[in-house]
Amino acid sequence: MRVRIGESELELVEGDITEQTTEAIVNAANRTLLGGGGVDGAIHRAGGPRIMEECRKLGGCNPGDAKITIGGNLAAPYVIHAVGPVYRDGKHHEADLLAKTYRRSLEVASENNIETISFPSISTGAYGFPIDQAARIALSTVIDYLKSNQDIRLVRFVLYGRKAFDVYANALEELMKPPATEEEPEQVSEQAD
Ligand code: APR
Repeated sequence: MRVRIGESELELVEGDITEQTTEAIVNAANRTLLGGGGVDGAIHRAGGPRIMEECRKLGGCNPGDAKITIGGNLAAPYVIHAVGPVYRDGKHHEADLLAKTYRRSLEVASENNIETISFPSISTGAYGFPIDQAARIALSTVIDYLKSNQDIRLVRFVLYGRKAFDVYANALEELMKPPATEEEPEQVSEQAD
């Protein structure tokens, strides 16, 4: 699924982020930047030890922030290590922090003149963020960024499995719908007698 945002493109694919050939791929990292499971484990396994060597010099990364390294053996020249929020109950600014994580990843890409970038579904695995909410936050944040930053030509979301893909595809369809116009007749609810 692919939509245009100004001169940029936003794409959803089902697959493995370590196989993407965009200039950067985003890692769903933790604040130590010293590896883990899921996306983090997959990227370090596929990218090799040179990524970890660079990560060790970065001094960690706060939730909501992102830092860049080389891509090592990956097809992608760069990895942007992003630390999403751990989901607790939705009342600890998790939504804002997730949006910030995507925005910071895009800012780091722009700062490094990177024009194509792949994201995983940050925080929706080990960090427990409900994927339907996370999809809306992720997509709306990226759409807003692309509307005012045309330097990034392609943002690809790489969803792991059909279910995750469908959740993001539904969320994107909702976000791309034209706003309801005033002319539409009010839905008159049947007043109970
Ligand atoms: N490609 C794309 N997506 C993947 C891949 C992959 N190879 N592997 C897993 N995913 C998906 C998961 O299915 C989930 O939807 O990425 C999403 C994020 O899951 P996690 O990797 O668990 O990331 P997150 O929820 O952000 O938790 C981060 O987990 O691995 C540790 O060190 C990491 O402590 C950090 C925490």
